[in-house]
Amino acid sequence: MSITIKTPEELEYMRVAGRLAGEVLDYIAPFVVPGATTAELDRLCHDYMVNVQGCIPAPLNYAPPGYQPYPKSICTSVNHQVCHGLPNDRTLKKGDIVNLDITTIKDGWHGDTSRMFSVGGTASILGNRLVAIAHECLWLGIATVKPGARLGDIGAAIQRHAEGQGFSVVREFCGHGIGLKFHEEPQVLHYGKPGDGIRLEPGMTFTIEPMINAGKAAVSELPDGWTIVTKDRSLSAQWEHTIAVTATGYEVMTLSAGAPKNPFAP
Ligand code: MF3
Ligand code: CO
Ligand code: CO
Repeated sequence: MSITIKTPEELEYMRVAGRLAGEVLDYIAPFVVPGATTAELDRLCHDYMVNVQGCIPAPLNYAPPGYQPYPKSICTSVNHQVCHGLPNDRTLKKGDIVNLDITTIKDGWHGDTSRMFSVGGTASILGNRLVAIAHECLWLGIATVKPGARLGDIGAAIQRHAEGQGFSVVREFCGHGIGLKFHEEPQVLHYGKPGDGIRLEPGMTFTIEPMINAGKAAVSELPDGWTIVTKDRSLSAQWEHTIAVTATGYEVMTLSAGAPKNPFAP
């Protein structure tokens, strides 16, 4: 399969799916408090997507080659968990940092977005800085998107900022094309060299979702077959948006009323 170019009509479907994914994060935010379990957050999001939004939670039973079907409806990655964290009965504690990753399917089209939450309102000084820098990395990557730019420009902008702050970029997982399929071509690496990779064209849709570690970049998989953690057990943070390439730049498809703003916007 190659990269699919979406028509204006198809982009309208993706806008809807994307906004709905963002709105799940708006909905769940007040529930991310000390004492909540990630399984409770999963259940609340599942019910909201299915019963309120009329969406399908894309992760549920998702089974890429080589993986067991994913048994939950969202991903919850806490502290040193990098991504694909399986919701469970573990209780969130004040000062934990947690990524909630939501992927909706509406009328067959996917929207994929994730945010970081600091349980109890704030984390450690390092945790707060990591979360903020990872958010800046996402938006620096987004800012490079326009027709004629290269995929490598995105990764280079992210890597430069993360490593400039003494953090590292996870290599094993990347952003991805998205549309009628959850994961399409191209792979969107969060590191690289400016000018490398394919040229961006209007109508391409993909995610940017940098995973930034406070320590070393290496990761490993837990025995549950899904949850990815940092090998050195250092903190990790991730933010994700679904992006469309427009005639002049980019459109963020997963914005919603409660989405944190572009930190570089005037
Ligand atoms: N939402 C994740 C992403 O950003 C993928 C999760 S796959 C799952 O690509 F099966 F773990 F849900
Ligand atoms: Co994604
Ligand atoms: Co995601």
